Order: sequence, then C-alpha cells, then structure tokens
Amino acid sequence: MHSRQGGLSTPETPAHPIRRITSFRSRRSTITDAQQDAWDRLWPRLGTLARSGGPEPAPRLDTAEWFGRRAPLVCEIGCGTGTSTLAMAQAEPDIDVIAVEVYRRGLAQLLSAIDREAVANIRMIRGDGVDVLEHQIGPATLTGVRVFFPDPWPKSRHHKRRLLQPQTVALIADRLRTGGVLHAATDHAGYAQQIAEVGDAEPLLRRAQPDESLPISSVRPSTKYEMKARHAGSPVTELLWVKRP
Ligand SMILES: C[S@@+](CC[C@H](N)C(=O)[O-])C[C@H]1O[C@@H](n2cnc3c(N)ncnc32)[C@H](O)[C@@H]1O
Repeated sequence: MHSRQGGLSTPETPAHPIRRITSFRSRRSTITDAQQDAWDRLWPRLGTLARSGGPEPAPRLDTAEWFGRRAPLVCEIGCGTGTSTLAMAQAEPDIDVIAVEVYRRGLAQLLSAIDREAVANIRMIRGDGVDVLEHQIGPATLTGVRVFFPDPWPKSRHHKRRLLQPQTVALIADRLRTGGVLHAATDHAGYAQQIAEVGDAEPLLRRAQPDESLPISSVRPSTKYEMKARHAGSPVTELLWVKRP
C-alpha cells in the first residue's frame, strides 16, 4: 500500500470566512490509491463539505433526499477513522448517521469501510462540526449527537479550543429534538469534568438515568484510541444527557 503525494495531499482545515477558534489543528494528509478510488466513486453521493456562514446563508441539509428515506438522525462530530460510526450504524440500521470530520484520511478510511461492508445509513461531511450544526442542521432535528474522545487540548492555554464549551453544548441542545441524546466519552479526567459541568449547566438538557430507555444506543465498540487510553491507565468517562421537553 502506498500513499499518493503532491496534488492529492490536501489541507485539512476548511476556510473560515469569520475566524473562530477551532477545536482542530490544520494538518495535511494523503490517502492510498485504493482509498482515492473509493473516494472518487462514492464521495459525490455519500459525502459533502461543511458550509459556514457567508453572505449567502448555507442551505439546510435535505437528509430525506440524501439518505433516500426519513429516519431518526444522529450526528457524530469528530468521527476520526469511523470505527465507532461504522459499528454503531451497522447495529442500528433504522437510524441515519452523519459523520463529521475535518481529517480527510479518516473519512477516506470510513468511506472504504462503508463500501466494503455495504452500509447504507452513513453519510459524511468534511469540515467543522460546529459549522454543520450552526448552518446546515435545523433546530429540533437530531435524535442524537455523539462526540467520542474529542481532542482534550490538555494545556490550560489551549482549553479554549475544546469542542465541548457552553456555546457548542447549547447549540447541540438546540439541534436535538425533545428526548434526543447527547452522548460524549473521554479518557481525559479534566475534560470529563468540564464536559460534565457544561452539560449539567445547560438548561435544555438533563442527565440520562442509568437504566433509561433511550432512542439511540449508547453501546460503543472499543476503538484503537480507547484501548491505548485504557492501557495507559486512563479510565473512560461516559456522559449522556437527554433533551428536555
Ligand atoms: C481524538 S480524535 C477521536 C476520533 C474518534 N472519535 C475516536 O473515538 O477514535 C478527535 C477527532 O475529532 C476531530 N475534530 C476535532 N474538532 C472537530 C470539529 N470541530 N469538527 C469535526 N471534527 C473535529 C479531529 O480531526 C480528530 O480526528
């Protein structure tokens, strides 16, 4: 397996007309020839770019048209290589999943896996998940939002880069329909505490009860990232909230 260089190495950071502190860093990546082939074949149908605000408001996603059906909708922000995305979508074929990621190589891996496993209920957006929620998804649309192992930005001067801040959690809560679920998981103790505080302070959300029946599954597969964290002795904190009526 070799990776293509040069023209096919693309910047990972989408342009922001209005500069905002982002939860990701700019990086370049290359993808393999096989991934590029899957990308060329499938991306036009299964993927799109995030749209941010500009002079023209971005159109809302027409998910019924995109998925070819109406089904409960989940948005996963920062899907990485899509290990959880794929397994969870396969476990719940009646739920549609939009996976958002800035990292093209991760999306290319997920796209190849979708192709190989013939999974029908995943679509992908490349770009900033905050843009997607803000501009492309309407209020009370989502049955679930998943954020698994968001970058912890451990240095205190970088905490402002963390994805799950009060404004983003408020935006997520607004985009959830009543009874919809915000599911976050992290192996970083400090970030876990911040997420817990921010989620608990959001008036539109309440903690899910331990045995509560939820409209989406909260069963995640263990990813490579998570196994590494566990081996390093970092316990994983699972956080679940439900949107209030
Ligand atoms: C630590 S990785 C975890 C990946 C995956 N969720 C997992 O559990 O293996 C965090 C991922 O979030 C992505 N990311 C960070 N901020 C993002 C944002 N605002 N929108 C979309 N993706 C983002 C990064 O590119 C990175 O791939």
